[in-house]
Parts: sequence; C-alpha cells; structure tokens
Amino acid sequence: MINVRKGRAVFVETWGCQMNDLDGRRLVGLLLREGFSEAPSAEEADVVLLNTCSVRDKAEQKVYDRLGRLALVKKKRPGMVIGVCGCVAQQEGEQLLERVSCVDFVLGTGRIESLPAVLRRVDEEGDRPVEVGFDLDQVAYTPGSIAHALPYRAAITVIEGCNKNCTFCVVPTTRGRERSRNMDDVVAEAARLVGDGVVELELLGQTVNAYRDPGTGKGLADLLGEIGGLPGLRRLRFVTSHPRNFDDRLIQAMADTPTACRYLHLPVQSGSDRLLGRMKRQYTRQEYVSLVTRLRRAMPDLALSTDVIVGFPGEGEGDFEETLSLLEEVRFTAVYSFTYSPRPHTAAARWESDVPPRVASERLARLMDLQRDIQRAINTELVGRTLEVLVEGTDRRGSRLAGRSACNRVVNFDGDGVQVGQFAKVIIEKGLPNSLAGRLLGPA
Ligand code: SAM
Ligand code: F3S
Repeated sequence: MINVRKGRAVFVETWGCQMNDLDGRRLVGLLLREGFSEAPSAEEADVVLLNTCSVRDKAEQKVYDRLGRLALVKKKRPGMVIGVCGCVAQQEGEQLLERVSCVDFVLGTGRIESLPAVLRRVDEEGDRPVEVGFDLDQVAYTPGSIAHALPYRAAITVIEGCNKNCTFCVVPTTRGRERSRNMDDVVAEAARLVGDGVVELELLGQTVNAYRDPGTGKGLADLLGEIGGLPGLRRLRFVTSHPRNFDDRLIQAMADTPTACRYLHLPVQSGSDRLLGRMKRQYTRQEYVSLVTRLRRAMPDLALSTDVIVGFPGEGEGDFEETLSLLEEVRFTAVYSFTYSPRPHTAAARWESDVPPRVASERLARLMDLQRDIQRAINTELVGRTLEVLVEGTDRRGSRLAGRSACNRVVNFDGDGVQVGQFAKVIIEKGLPNSLAGRLLGPA
C-alpha cells in the first residue's frame, strides 16, 4: 500500500463522455482506498482533480478557465493540491505545468492507476510529476476500486482507445490505441456489480463493438451472451458503436438478449459520401442506411441516436442538405450535433476551415430545428403505450417523478409509491421533443 497522507478530502470535477465519468469515479475510488474522503466541492477539498475533455476547443478552454479560478482558491489555501487528469492532460503533458503554475501534477488517461504514487511524489518529494503514455498491451485495472455514484446503475469499460483515426478526432491521441480487457475480468466485474444490486449496466468503449478478448478473440456479441443473463440484471447497454464494426452476429446477439436495451447510439457524422470520405469514417451513407435497415428488421422497436458534425472543411450546402435528408430518412430519437472544431494532432486540422463560423452556426440551428420536429413526431407516436421506467429522481420542478425508459427516453410522470432505483410501469400521455410525460400504473 502506498503511503499517501490520509484524512484528506478529494474532489473530482469531470467533463466529457461516459468514459470520463467512469474514470472520474475510478480516481475517487483509488483515493478512498487510501483513506481519503470525498469533498462536496473543489473549494472544500485538499486534493482537486480536473478530469478533462479535449474533444472540442471549447471543452479545453473551460479547463483553463477553471484552473484560473482554482489558482485564487489555492492562494488562500497553500496546502491544496491540484492535478489535471483526462484528455487535456494526455494531450498537453509537460506543457500544462509550464503554462499553469498552480498545477501540481499531470496524469494521462492511461495512467489512472498511478494516482496514489503520483500524489506521494507531490507530498514527499515536492515533485511536479507528469505521467502520460499507455501500456500498449494491457489495461491496468484494480478490481472493485471504482466508487460508483449510484447503487442501481454502473458502467464498465471493456475497451480503451480507438484505432479509427477519423480525420477530425483527437481521441486516438488522448486515449491511445485499442486495448481490450480480458472477458473473464469484465464478466466477473459485471457479476459482482449485479450481485451488489445494480440493475442497469453499461459497457463502455470509444468503439465498444471493436471489443476482442485478448486471449480468445471473442467479441461483444459473446460478451452480451455472457453478461445479459446475470440474475437480477434488467438492462444492458453498450456505447459507442462504430457502424463499420457492427456485423450481423452482433445484431443477432442484441436481438437474442432480452436485457439488451432496444436502443443504440450509432454516430453517423454526415449524410454526404464526399464528407464521410474526407472524415475517413470507413462507410458510405448507403452502408449506414442498410445497417439501420438490418437492425430494425431484427428489432422493430429499436431507438437510434447519433452524432453529427456540421461545418467540416469542404462541407457545401449540398452536403449539408444530404445530412438533413439522412435525418429525415432514419428518424433518430436523439441527435448530438456539433459545429466542427479543429483539434491538435488531427489530419483535418491541417486543412483550410472553409466554412465560415456564421454559416456553421446557421446550419447547426437548421439541423436542430428539423430534429426537434422529428423527435416531437416520434415521441407523440408513443402516446398510449406503456413503458418500463427506471426511476432516477424528480423532474426539474421537483413536482413529478422522472426516469428513463429502456429506449433511453426521459419520462416524467405523476404518481407515487415507487422509489429511486426501482422500475415503474408508466402509460405515456404526451410526447414532447425531448421527453415523454405520463402516469404511473404501478411498479414493474
Ligand atoms: N468514439 C465515439 C464516437 O465514435 O462517437 C466518441 C467520439 S467523440 C468523443 C464524440 C463525438 O464528438 C463524435 O461522434 C463527434 O460527433 C464529436 N466530435 C469529435 N471530434 C470533433 C471535432 N473536432 N469537432 C466537433 N465535433 C467533434
Ligand atoms: Fe474518434 Fe472516430 Fe474513434 S470519432 S473515437 S476516431 S471512431
């Protein structure tokens, strides 16, 4: 056991994707094992960890803004330790220490397990360590070290990194090459979590469907088979799938696993073949649509969401209209849309950004308007249906219960007698663009 100073409080502030959320709980968990407690805010903590995202420039700038404000807090509390973790840490490394003097250490996404050792160097040797880089063949993982935030839902990382090198994306730099965890370890972790009361499990990876057990070569389809039937598990999700890696065997495994939610996040990025080529997405619009058709044939009630980038270099009005027509053709239940942001170490960053920011923003607004109408229509089609909702709390006003359906819709409903973490049967009375409203029928 590494001897870091005990009795201190840690606060982890996380930005970005589900993998970062889980990494954040891992950072907390590793220090709880060392005798730390969790502070309610950065201002009250002895050790503050910024678990950062660099997928778009705006996310990265937020980190520097936050560090500026934390530097003022640290002036009043000189013993405070500030560490930068996550994707900005991995991307910037040493330069972060040079640029921001209040930072005590930098810990990359592949070095999370080194956190206690790094803190010890800060405490005892007065070092400003920079730990970045990846162990190429394996994923370091201390079983049971994640401090999961909720008793009824948990995520498990099954594959780290990404080998795809889409021309816009910084993730291959910040998270390294693909490394899959051993299937036996993943299944054991899933069984332990479900044994502890988790009813909804989410398997995570930047390209989760590229998962391959390093020993046997078994893939995500096999993993669904292994985990899906764990007694007590009600919902199994996985994210993010790359269209290129979605084969018929996986479609069948999903359809055959009753706990596998009828919901899939399948980023498309653009509806124009010309742009898909420039983005190096490795599929055409036709291939994507054909995959959607096969998925819906196997699971007619499947809900699909996607990611779209507008304003990518070379995007003409015609290309953008093809993206709009794809949204009309597929009818996604949610679209996460972004204007293109050039990122360091990516191929597209060297290309001229020829779509003016004003045009990109206008396109984004048009896309969101269209998608809002599509979502309202799709959600209205659910009126009269009864959905199973996992209760998560109350709506924003605090007046109704709120939760999520298996198809990943937010459902707000009237009624009482069900608790957070329990399933409720809810009849849908109204479909709104971003949520459903209904009435409790009883526990499910
Ligand atoms: N592996 C996941 C995937 O394929 O979706 C995650 C990639 S990234 C963290 C999530 C989304 O951010 C991408 O799907 C893409 O739409 C968007 N994104 C990534 N790089 C971007 C960039 N440079 N500018 C704007 N949006 C970007
Ligand atoms: Fe990024 Fe493309 Fe991988 S979007 S995470 S390089 S699949």
